Amino acid sequence: MVARVIPVDTFDLVIFGGTGDLARRKILPGLFRRFLAGQMPDGSRIIGAARSDLDDAAYQSMISDAIDEFGGPEKDDKEGRKAFLACLGYVQIDAKGTDGWKDLAKLIRENVVQAFYFSVAPSLFGDLAERLMKHKIATPHSRVVVEKPFGRDLESAKALNKTLATHFDESQIYRIDHYLGKETVQNLMAVRFGNVLFEPLWNNHYVDHIQITVAETVGVGGRGAYYDRSGAMRDMVQNHLMQLLCLIAMEPPSQFGADAVRDEKLKVIRALQPIEPHHIVRGQYDAGADTASYREDAENPRSFTESFIAMKTHISNWRWSGVPFYLRTGKRMKARSSEITVVFQSLGHSIFEGEESLPNILSIHLQPNEGMDLQVTIKEPGPGGMRLVSVPLDMTFADALGDSDIEVTDAYERLIMDVIRGNQTLFMRGDEVEAAWAWTDPIIAGWEARNDVPKTYEPGSTGPEDALMLLHRDGRKWREVKG
Ligand code: BG6
Repeated sequence: MVARVIPVDTFDLVIFGGTGDLARRKILPGLFRRFLAGQMPDGSRIIGAARSDLDDAAYQSMISDAIDEFGGPEKDDKEGRKAFLACLGYVQIDAKGTDGWKDLAKLIRENVVQAFYFSVAPSLFGDLAERLMKHKIATPHSRVVVEKPFGRDLESAKALNKTLATHFDESQIYRIDHYLGKETVQNLMAVRFGNVLFEPLWNNHYVDHIQITVAETVGVGGRGAYYDRSGAMRDMVQNHLMQLLCLIAMEPPSQFGADAVRDEKLKVIRALQPIEPHHIVRGQYDAGADTASYREDAENPRSFTESFIAMKTHISNWRWSGVPFYLRTGKRMKARSSEITVVFQSLGHSIFEGEESLPNILSIHLQPNEGMDLQVTIKEPGPGGMRLVSVPLDMTFADALGDSDIEVTDAYERLIMDVIRGNQTLFMRGDEVEAAWAWTDPIIAGWEARNDVPKTYEPGSTGPEDALMLLHRDGRKWREVKG
């Protein structure tokens, strides 16, 4: 299958923090791939803006190195790389001062799409926004892209929203949660709302429970200082897992449009019940044979920050009343595996004597090996009477579609192109982010008030024993974590 490339308008994209890790690792290599795919119209420009004293040539060479490191197989396209690098410029800028702003103003054109990517600490959002306006660089049509962490609690998120709202309309603000750019995450909506099979069963009459697992094998080494102030709750649950939960649980939007989708997601977050303390398990990874412990990685021997979290939550609405949602995420786990599993209820009555009915289970694999499988019950082949067995109807998207495109279209490239297109569907709205913090804050405050100490767990495991108990107590079990 040939990937369809939808053209975008000519643009000027300014990346503040253009020499930073995210820019080198994700944003620029992603744009390079979009360029090669023919999606960057002639005349479009990418301008790195940062404190370092560089000229265009030095910046182009820095990004060429980044492409070598993170560009994937496309990095071998030497001609393509040369043409892409020619679209890159650089401005040395002082986010809190005056240097560089006039230079930037001279570069930015009014008759093309303008996007400003704030790939910097949130404490600089206000400074950047103010200067973009003061120097008449941004217009009412410009777009600003901001990264997580979007605040560390409700109060700080509100302050950030207010700062941005002083200068920009909500329709200009693109808050990135890169999970929304993942192919299979969008597929959740296609599966739910593009098939007649699932939606009639997608409720508390037929669903027993839902599990969401985002397991990682990496530790926090290298970014321990940031992570130790966040923990799994702020780093993963408040944003990525919450977004997955919204997409799996929301009501069908009237159309696949930015406000219709985001209105429905917001309703889910607002309907989340507060979590009982005994429905949450926090963990911290121990040292392994060749890996450091969380506390060593975080360089904080007394850290009580969680690198793992498992929880049970409920959504108080007509559709989901009584259905538990089990969420877990952790670092240094057994395998890298992100999966959403919908476990349907068993049939009330089995007509096959001595054979209990086995539940249908739909698993959506987000990464790696994007795809889905549906466990169905069949007769065990061969003689010996009517014995039932559960087998997967397995569909790995790359096999089914015969296309490697799924693998290579990174979340960032898709999201950046959506910014240029002016499509906010896959970005978080300000009220969504605030609602997510409003749900998260009391949980974190409870831990702090109780001096909650995370349980240690073996690296390469599935987290602390208590996380297994969370489901065992309910007569259920987690899906196996396998990569
Ligand atoms: C980031 C978190 O937002 O997402 C990281 O800060 C985490 O801690 C990462 O490792 C996971 O992203 P992905 O795309 O690798 O699943």
